[in-house]
Formats: sequence, structure tokens, C-alpha cells
Amino acid sequence: MTDVHVRPLAESEYRPSFDLFVTALHEPQRVGDDRWRRSVARYEPGRVLGAFLDGELAGTALSLPSTLEVPGGAVLPAAAVTGVAVRADRTRRGLLRELMRAQLADLRERGEPLAMLHASETRIYPRFGYGLGTRSQRARVARTHAELRPDAPVGGQVRLVDGIAAEKLLPELYARIGTGRPGLMARSDGWWTTRLGAAVENGGTLRVAVHSDESGTDDGFALWEPSKADHQFGDGAVQIQVSDLHGADDTAVASLWRFLLGLDLATSVIAVDRPLDEPMPWWLADRRGYGVDRVDDDLWVRLVDVPAALAARSYGAAAAVVVEVRDAFLPQNSGAYRIGPGGAEPVADAPQLSLDVDVLGSLYLGDVAPSTLVAANRIDVHDPAAVPAADALFATPRLPWCGTGF
Ligand SMILES: CC(C)(COP(=O)(O)OP(=O)(O)OC[C@H]1O[C@@H](n2cnc3c(N)ncnc32)[C@H](O)[C@@H]1OP(=O)(O)O)[C@@H](O)C(=O)NCCC(=O)NCCS
Repeated sequence: MTDVHVRPLAESEYRPSFDLFVTALHEPQRVGDDRWRRSVARYEPGRVLGAFLDGELAGTALSLPSTLEVPGGAVLPAAAVTGVAVRADRTRRGLLRELMRAQLADLRERGEPLAMLHASETRIYPRFGYGLGTRSQRARVARTHAELRPDAPVGGQVRLVDGIAAEKLLPELYARIGTGRPGLMARSDGWWTTRLGAAVENGGTLRVAVHSDESGTDDGFALWEPSKADHQFGDGAVQIQVSDLHGADDTAVASLWRFLLGLDLATSVIAVDRPLDEPMPWWLADRRGYGVDRVDDDLWVRLVDVPAALAARSYGAAAAVVVEVRDAFLPQNSGAYRIGPGGAEPVADAPQLSLDVDVLGSLYLGDVAPSTLVAANRIDVHDPAAVPAADALFATPRLPWCGTGF
């Protein structure tokens, strides 16, 4: 019989666990020292877990301390779960399950009411209570259709900065402007060290631009990598692949798009992880110039402490609804909650709606309406009047969006 044991890893074990992770993702088995140094900058002692099978490291998962903005503007401690992998020759023996169990217990102990992750495959995490909480889209604008309307916002100045300057500027800039929408998360200094590696090392493939408003205050930035299909400019397409674009307001965002669309020799701009409600098509003179290649699942959200997380967000105007939450993986969360405009609290009343905790993770930031999940048979309805009320309670003025990979 196999013996799975999960424990926090010592610092000396971080590198083997990272190598295990990148190998499971089908990357080269041993990454270079530069990338390793930058990746480990995010690690925090006690938050890097290893799963041992018969005494041998065979799986790993880690969590990064972060925060998540929730509807109403509260910013809650939230663990960013990443680095999840099990050795290919040790899968389907329950290692991930044990890692998830230990990690969620650890997060509860730390008093972090939310956990979040980006999933390699969508079928893995609902069983552990994660629901799809935000989506994003991959947008494409051909430069032949890049003209903006005269009434599109015009901002201040855009300047290029090198990787070293970006490491100094961007953490403060993002922290200052990265609020005002459910789903936005904090980025630690270690996160930035990892993220900007490609701007500083490996020949600096990652480019960085910063926007400043008319008063000269920095209020937005974009990260991109050019990709050239051919060494001949005449034949080859140069794509500008934008991986990160944040602005304090629509003017900063429009100005950064305008800058990217104006880059000489580029044939198209492709931007990943964009919010679904970005006004870009409305800024274009020819809105057919804006194409959406695909809509992706973005942030998966797990309510680790259901009463605390429910109480922390705001709700719309409607009659209160009693919702039964079923949480097989963290049974402490199971129970009925009355959710109304004044807040949410545990109650002993008969439920009007019943749902699993992963479904609550999908509703929590406002990305999907309860009535949609009723139609999908993901919510059991005991009182039909509760459905439109729940729609109004969970609705948010802006679509949630994360826009941060980890
Ligand atoms: C995904 C991964 C971590 C799963 O690890 P594992 O130890 O095999 O998972 P477990 O044996 O604990 O499985 C737990 C449950 O999840 C299911 N499951 C695991 N991986 C799954 C997958 N890729 N798709 C669907 N279901 C999956 C199992 O069938 C099992 O189901 P059950 O509860 O009905 O028995 C592992 O396959 C892996 O490392 N894959 C490559 C890297 C990767 O994708 N990492 C995730 C990054 S977000």
C-alpha cells in the first residue's frame, strides 16, 4: 500500500520541486539558474508543499500571499495557488487530493478567506471547491484597421523603459492603479521579479512602456513581446503580443493601445487576458478591426471561509435569499446563509436555493448570474422567487477581471 505524506518543503527542496513542476508542464527538465532565481523570489517559507510517496518527492503545490478585490471594493487576503504538479509516473494515486487538502487547511489556519488559481485544465479543480470566477479574452487588431475614432480618449505621454527601470517603477504603479474592479489582485515584489525576468535577461525579449497623464503622473503600463515570422520585413508578419496592460482609467488604457497600434513595422497587435468589457472596439473607427480570438477561463475562485467571504462583499438591492452551500471538501463551510443587501450570515432557515461551493465561487465576483447556473442545473431551486432576487443580489456594476497571471 502506498503512503502519501504532505509537508511544507525546506528551502533546500524548492529547486527539485520546481524542476518537478516544469517537467510536468512539458518544459525542459531543468531550467536555467537565472529563471530559477527569479521564480523562487515568489516563494514563501511554509507555503511550498511537497507530497511524498513512499518517502520520495512526487508532487508539489504552493501558494503566494496576495489579495483580491471583491464586489463593493473590499480587498481580502487571498492565496494565489500555483506550481501544482505531480510526477507523470505517480499521477492518479491521490497526491493532488492530499496536496489540496493540506493547502486549504493551511490557508484556513492563516485566516485567508479566499484562494484563487489559473487552471491548466478546467476539469481538475471544481472537485476541490474552485469555481470559474472571471473570464478574459484574447483580442486582435490588424494595423490596417488600427485608426481610432476622433472621440477616443487621448492621454499624455508614453515612454519606453528598460527592464531595470521597470522593476523599480511597475510594482508601485500597479499597486496604485490596480483597484476599482472585482477580481483585481495584488502583485508582490517577488511576483514582479519573476514576471520581468524576460525584460532583464534572455536578451530582453519583453518590452515595457509607461503612460503618464497630462500632469506627468505615471498612470498605466504595457508589457509586450514582438514576434517576427520571417527575417524579411517584406514578407514577414511582425506581431505585437501584449501580455499585460493596465491603466488607472480609460484614457490611460486607450493611450497605451494607441501607442501599440502605432508601432512601426507591426502588422497586428494581439493582447491576451483582456477584460470582456474593454471599450476598445468602440474606440476604433472600424470596429470590425477588433477581433476576439477566444474567451478564456481566467481566475478560479475558492471560498476557503464561506461565512467570512460572503460577509465581505456587497450585494444589490433585492429581497434577502437563503442559500444552502454544500462543501464536501471543507465541510465546516456547509450550511445555510441568508444573503441580502445588508450582508450575509449563517442561519438555520430552510433554503430557497442549494448549490455546491464551486458554484458559489463562480457567483462570488459577479461573472455569471445565478439564473444562468439554474438553467445549467448547477443550482437547485426550492423557491422560484429566489432566482431573480439572487440575480439582483449578486450582480456587479462592472464585470470582474483579474488580468494577472501567476
Ligand atoms: C493535474 C495533476 C496535478 C493531478 O494530480 P494527481 O495526483 O494525478 O491527481 P489525484 O490522483 O489526486 O486526482 C484527484 C482527482 O482529480 C481527478 N483528476 C486529476 N487530474 C485530472 C485531470 N487532468 N483532468 C480531470 N480530472 C483529473 C482524478 O481523476 C481524481 O478524481 P476522483 O476524485 O474522482 O478520484 C497532475 O496530473 C499533473 O501534474 N498534471 C500536469 C501539470 C498540471 O496540469 N498541473 C496543474 C497546474 S494548474
